[in-house]
Amino acid sequence: MTRILAIANQKGGVAKTTTTASVGAALTDQDVSVLVVDLDPQGCLTFSLGHDPDQITKSVHDVLIGAEDIADVLLDTDDGMTLLPATIDLAGAEALLLMRPGREYALKRALAEVAEDYDVILIDCPPSLGVLTLNGLTAADEVVVPLQCETLAHRGVGQLLRTVTEVQQITNPELTMLGTVATLFDARTTHSRDVLADVADRYDMPVIDPPIPRTVRFAEASASGASVMRGRKNKGATAYRELAENLRGHWGGAELVRYEA
Ligand SMILES: Nc1ncnc2c1ncn2[C@@H]1O[C@H](COP(=O)(O)OP(=O)(O)O)[C@@H](O)[C@H]1O
Ligand SMILES: [Mg+2]
Repeated sequence: MTRILAIANQKGGVAKTTTTASVGAALTDQDVSVLVVDLDPQGCLTFSLGHDPDQITKSVHDVLIGAEDIADVLLDTDDGMTLLPATIDLAGAEALLLMRPGREYALKRALAEVAEDYDVILIDCPPSLGVLTLNGLTAADEVVVPLQCETLAHRGVGQLLRTVTEVQQITNPELTMLGTVATLFDARTTHSRDVLADVADRYDMPVIDPPIPRTVRFAEASASGASVMRGRKNKGATAYRELAENLRGHWGGAELVRYEA
């Protein structure tokens, strides 16, 4: 059975894309076959996995508007994952999709054609709660919310949770909110832990173990377009490996390990 996990938060810079690429790479290392979906018109995931969005002729945009079959658009990555890439064209998908009935189901329908080829599909949602994120949440079985452990991190979480509830009521009753992934975590200060405890309390959301520490290496890796996991022994990569193992355990029937802030 294929597991489809959306990584969503309408806030930018909370490590959605880094989490998608890193968990995908870690799962691949653990012999899980992974498809990653770039739903952000900025194409950061596409770029970070070694494909230049400006050089790509067919993208998720063409799939969503029904102009291309998904199988003809998928790309291989050096990390061994398969990528449904994004280009800036996707910025126009919002308007094109808005005029179509069933617009929230476009990604779900496309993924159904290839899902059986993969154990896990990860969807990197854009920093908005528009029709693209609705497509991601409608196609997914589960959603996680990366949350940067800083003051006011909780702002917008209520709105995101309302969107998830609406999706559960209208387009995807099966959608499960797994919880937050704490990113850019600084274990040396109590501040990160206070922020997490506050969010967990306020919204009754589990914090999935482990938190992902802030590491300089990560910023370097994504800037060069190389995978954040490849050949690197750093705290961030180790944490993402543990997160991938935690998710696999959960998919195998074990209880998801929570972090108690
Ligand atoms: N654990 C980390 N340590 C240091 N920098 C990180 C870490 N995770 C992500 N970043 C950096 O933070 C920025 C935003 O991350 P990104 O994954 O693009 O966020 P989003 O997709 O939510 O906008 C990027 O420059 C990325 O390299
Ligand atoms: Mg992103």
